[in-house]
Amino acid sequence: MIDRSAIDTLRADFRLRLAAATTDRDLKALDDAFLSRRSGSVTALLKQVASGPPEERREFGRLVNALKTEIESALDGKRAAIASTRPPAGAVDVTLASRQIPMGRIHPLMRVRQEVEDIFVRMGYEILEGPEVEDDYHNFEALNMPPDHPARDMQDTLYLGVPIPGGIWGAHRGRVPEAQVRTATLLRTHTSAMQIRYMKTFPPPIRLIVPGRVYRRDNLDLSHTPMFQQFEGLVVGRGVTLADLKGTFEAMVRELFGDVKVRLRPSFFPYTEPSAEVDITCQSCGGAGCGTCKHTGWLEILGSGMVHPAVFEAVGYDADEVTGFAFGMGMERVAMLKYGVDDIRLFYENDVRFLEQFPL
Ligand code: DAH
Repeated sequence: MIDRSAIDTLRADFRLRLAAATTDRDLKALDDAFLSRRSGSVTALLKQVASGPPEERREFGRLVNALKTEIESALDGKRAAIASTRPPAGAVDVTLASRQIPMGRIHPLMRVRQEVEDIFVRMGYEILEGPEVEDDYHNFEALNMPPDHPARDMQDTLYLGVPIPGGIWGAHRGRVPEAQVRTATLLRTHTSAMQIRYMKTFPPPIRLIVPGRVYRRDNLDLSHTPMFQQFEGLVVGRGVTLADLKGTFEAMVRELFGDVKVRLRPSFFPYTEPSAEVDITCQSCGGAGCGTCKHTGWLEILGSGMVHPAVFEAVGYDADEVTGFAFGMGMERVAMLKYGVDDIRLFYENDVRFLEQFPL
């Protein structure tokens, strides 16, 4: 006698396991367990058919074969269902978390530059750049430094091995006017060279800021780089006085550094008379004296003065008609004081650990 209940038990077992199967691998395991030629449980039942009583063989064989077909088509159906949920090869998984895109930051020197430019634009100044490759005339001679002038040593100059014929290109104004074209021989040591270019080209009144790179023969250390940046300021008109100079610096410093004091200290520059260096109270110690300010309570931020009559003469202005003030301020110097940076080289190493400390 053949045990027909074995068929129902297998069917129930298969259905349970099929319901739990979720992957191709699960289906393969089911296929093996039930239908494999050597060890499948349905295959084993089929083998029993031959050994059963003859009158039962036919019916029993039909039932087992029906189960086999049922299992095969159930497996096929589930296989197709799983395949239909699988994304096509190369498809984009829109549920994946997105990749972080690293955000760049505005370089601290660029922030200072934008801030200073904004301050002066609000006060009615024009912003212009000048050429970095200059000639002796604009960098020295017209600024009241004749060839033997000792002040030329104040800034050790980088001269060019091969002069650039045909003159120089100004960054924003296109070609420098023909009358000013001379053979370029050096890298400008200060933005003051642009004072001459501007005054030779335009009549007064003037309110001008020139941001840009300057070059000197300095070795790298905490406070020196052979290339650094300055803001040149120039104001010329009728009745411009030292009081305007001081008032302008007080306004600028208030906006840049907040509530600090400003003082003028007598100094010397060949292109200004009188000349003054401008100090602000040290922010590290509030003016009490500390290592940062070398125990003076003050930090120098710029050089300045009233434009020397010899400079007006060189550019063809009438020194009896107009007066003016000028200044030169180090961009790195301002950034170091503003952000508490103690090594100028950090601005040029582009180490992201440094740059990341500034806000976006
Ligand atoms: N050119 C000077 C320097 O590089 C800075 C300077 C001082 C600029 C006085 C000026 C000025 O226009 O009047 O150190």
